[in-house]
Amino acid sequence: MSYYEPFSRKYRPKTFEEIIGQESVVKTLKNAIKLGRIANAYIFAGSRGLGKTTISRILTKCLNCETGITDKPCGKCENCLEIDKGSFPDMYEIDAASNRGIDDIRNIKENVNYAPIKGRYKVYIIDEAHMLTREAFNALLKTLEEPPPHNIFILATTELHKIPDTIRSRCQTFIFKPPNKSQIVEYLKRICEKERLNYEKNALEILADASEGGMRDSASLLDQATVFSEGKITVESVEKMLGFIPSSIIDKFLISLKENKIKDLILVVEKVEKSGFDLNIFWKQIVDKIQEILINLSLDRADKYFSKEELKKLIYIQTVFSKAIGEAKSFQSPKHIYQLAILKLKYIPNIISIKELIEKGISINAPIDTKIKEKVDKGNIVKESLLESDKKKLSIDDILKKIKSEVGGVVFSILKNSKIEEREDNYTIFIDKKQLEFIDINGIKGYFPKPIKIEVVEKNQDKRLKKRNETVEKIRDLFKGKIISERYNEK
Ligand SMILES: Nc1ncnc2c1ncn2[C@@H]1O[C@H](COP(=O)(O)OP(=O)(O)O)[C@@H](O)[C@H]1O
Ligand SMILES: [Mg+2]
Ligand SMILES: [Zn+2]
Repeated sequence: MSYYEPFSRKYRPKTFEEIIGQESVVKTLKNAIKLGRIANAYIFAGSRGLGKTTISRILTKCLNCETGITDKPCGKCENCLEIDKGSFPDMYEIDAASNRGIDDIRNIKENVNYAPIKGRYKVYIIDEAHMLTREAFNALLKTLEEPPPHNIFILATTELHKIPDTIRSRCQTFIFKPPNKSQIVEYLKRICEKERLNYEKNALEILADASEGGMRDSASLLDQATVFSEGKITVESVEKMLGFIPSSIIDKFLISLKENKIKDLILVVEKVEKSGFDLNIFWKQIVDKIQEILINLSLDRADKYFSKEELKKLIYIQTVFSKAIGEAKSFQSPKHIYQLAILKLKYIPNIISIKELIEKGISINAPIDTKIKEKVDKGNIVKESLLESDKKKLSIDDILKKIKSEVGGVVFSILKNSKIEEREDNYTIFIDKKQLEFIDINGIKGYFPKPIKIEVVEKNQDKRLKKRNETVEKIRDLFKGKIISERYNEK
């Protein structure tokens, strides 16, 4: 069986020119080489797969190429070839994650006193340097303080903050930046072209998105995609490989969302599940997409699905949808949670929160129903009502049960914890001021057989008052006294 070399290794850049991004690192190092001002210790900091090892090796070649010290190593001499292969005797690649101790650093300390075997410089590349023990750092510090000539240290780390300041102050630090999407696409395209692979550009973009930043990850995904796709790397094959839901389905969902077609939305969820896709991935894709749309609209960018007028509605949708992600985690059937979230959209047009009403100057103590009705009628919303005869028979518990199943658990639990009184001409609900904003009054009023009236209470204050009363009572008992008058400081 022939050995298969992963793309990420096969296409490791061999010269500074092939490095994508990291411009300031490359520029500074090239200048230092040209000016003969190489530092004896560097820190290369940044997450995985950004080119820390790659650039360390290129720098090693620059210093040891048989054509002389150069920012353009030949890549053909024995030294260059050995460095590329990782077998050059003067290049030490040390993994600090498994060689963290003082002994490992002692070995280096001894070694620095010997002349290079083949090249001009010995280069020590200490990977994951932040893993070194404190003693190891101290030992290293001594070496960095009085470095014997012709030794270069490169400390590569994904966690710069864990490198002691004493070390940092003796090194020149380079921060490696994560590549942007187009840089990753460029890198993948380069590989595809060298490998003579057929690809759709959009497919590479999906891989770039999925790689979460690092070049190496993106190359590994491309590796997978070539095996998976058999022939051509297409959007469809890549989405399938990543377990993504086909764009056509997402498209259908967003269009139905725009048109408030609740039934269609419910059916899409059914279909996604039946086709064997992971519903959680589907939902996450939808939420990500809506987020993208929200940002677009807020920045006045045109969007394919929604217009700016729909921003408010979309914010509501996003609130409901993203909440469902959390709820689905602790629920056996995510499908039910997601479909419930969709059902909640029934109430979108009716959303006038009590908070908003207060802001608009409508007294909260007046029966709200008529005022809201006006607004609702203006918006041409058909009020969903129960049959009058059915309504009459309902107990408060029945009403709440219905709200629980149709509106949702949050609203239900707020109402459950609020005092509700059935009066002759209304239901009076006493709601804690803090919970007002979570209640959409239009969403619930249809469930009550009579108009509803909201009384705002401040529960916390009640508690404080009660506590104070207890204290007062204790003092009274202690002194066997009598309370003559009571005054409260509002603050
Ligand atoms: N800036 C870059 N330009 C081009 N390819 C890169 C770059 N950074 C990383 N790569 C690719 O990713 C692979 C891993 O990079 P590496 O230098 O080992 O990352 P690090 O040491 O930062 O974890 C390389 O072999 C190369 O294929
Ligand atoms: Mg590395
Ligand atoms: Zn060379």
